[in-house]
Formats: sequence, structure tokens, C-alpha cells
Amino acid sequence: MQKADGFVVSELEGVYRAIRERRDVRSGFLPERMNDELLLKLLQAAHYAPSVGLMQPWRFILIRRIEIRRAVYEIFQRANQAALSSYEPERAEKYAKLKLEGILDAPQNLCVVCNPEATRGHRLGRRSMPETAIYSTVCAVQNLWLAARAEGIGVGWVSILDPAALREVLHIPEHIVPVAYLCLGYVDRFASEPDLVRSGWESRIPVEEAVNFEQFDSPWTPEGMRV
Ligand SMILES: Cc1cc2nc3c(=O)[nH]c(=O)nc-3n(C[C@H](O)[C@H](O)[C@H](O)COP(=O)(O)O)c2cc1C
Repeated sequence: MQKADGFVVSELEGVYRAIRERRDVRSGFLPERMNDELLLKLLQAAHYAPSVGLMQPWRFILIRRIEIRRAVYEIFQRANQAALSSYEPERAEKYAKLKLEGILDAPQNLCVVCNPEATRGHRLGRRSMPETAIYSTVCAVQNLWLAARAEGIGVGWVSILDPAALREVLHIPEHIVPVAYLCLGYVDRFASEPDLVRSGWESRIPVEEAVNFEQFDSPWTPEGMRV
């Protein structure tokens, strides 16, 4: 049987490059706003994401007003202070030096929310795993993140936020889940390594360490894969 074609080499390289060079960006945002056309392209990329039962449970809240961003920044400051005080002194000292958001630096923020109760998709795939509505929304975020990197747009994910406080500021109803709060905009550069690696907070593990073979308790070996 004939195999389906993959992409031509230059396109293939572009896909892998976007994946490899995507970064979480918290600083270096330029003040210029993105135009709506580009923003819509990124949202369309997000909207092409896979979703359980074709539920498309995501909704996007675009935030540009400085007053709203300031209110979100205050929520971040409170959560960040609480996180800081949860660490031992040595780790706390490192934590305090990290820049963990770009809420006021990036001229646009985007809150990606999920309606896990939406009836679209007729509950296909959600009976046994209801959390797949949230997973679908995360797929949309990743699509946007990769498309943004290819367009030269920096994206930073801020999860150091109290969801209840965020709900209040953004008028998000109780049954809607805030999944991701993103800061996005033009940037002066993309770092070659994650910020957390460069600052010595955490290191990356090689892929081999993340792959098991046949069963969870059996580590992957190159020999094993060839069986
Ligand atoms: C679900 C999620 C939440 C995150 N929350 C934060 C955050 O609150 N602040 C931050 O600085 N980075 C946050 N990040 C970014 C990670 O720190 C980053 O992805 C990781 O260090 C790897 O770096 P890279 O994305 O540049 O490859 C988050 C990433 C994910 C996927």
C-alpha cells in the first residue's frame, strides 16, 4: 500500500524548528501592539487544535487594557509572594531572582478558558475521562505557542495566579475553567535555552529518561526498541 507523503524537507525543518525553538518568554517584550490580523492567525492556529469529540471547549479572552492587566499583575504578586514564602531560604533566594511573568510588559494578554460542561461533541470520549476537555484546551494553547514562535511572537504562560481572583477580574463564570493566562507580543530575541535552565533553577532530562518500554516499570533501551 502506498504511504502518505510527509512534508517537503524545508517545511519539515520549519515544524521541528518551531518545536525546538519555542520559548516561554517573560522579558524583552516590545511595546508595539500586534495587529488584529496576526492575532487572529494565531487564534485560528489555536482553534485548529484537536479536541475530545470535536468539542472545541476553549474560549479566548483578549486583554489589552492596562487597568485589567494591572489587576491581574496584583493577583500575580500575591500568589508569587505566597510561593516565595513556601521555599527553604536557599531556594527562596533563587526564586526571588526569577522573572516569572510579563503581564505589564507584553501589550496583550490572553486568557484561555475551558467550558468542561459544554454539550458539543455529545460527550464522546469524556465519559471515562472528563478531564479531556481541559486537555483539549491545552492542545489549543500549544498550537498558538508554536505558531507564535514561527511568527516571531513571544508567549509566556503565567500560572502563578489565584483562579478565583482571576475569575472575578475577568468576569469568568463559576463553571468556566481558566486554563492558561498568556502574555504575548513582539520580542527583541528568543533565548536558546529555557530561562529556568539558564538561571540554574532546573535542568532538562534527555528524552531516553522519559521513555519506558512495554510497561511503566521497564526503562527504554536502544536494544529494547529493536525487538
Ligand atoms: C502549564 C504551564 C504553566 C507555566 N507557568 C509558568 C509561570 O507561571 N511562570 C513562568 O515563568 N513560566 C511558566 N511556565 C513556563 C515554564 O517554566 C517553561 O515552559 C519551562 O521552564 C521550559 O522552558 P521553555 O518553555 O522556554 O522551553 C509554564 C509552563 C506551562 C506549560
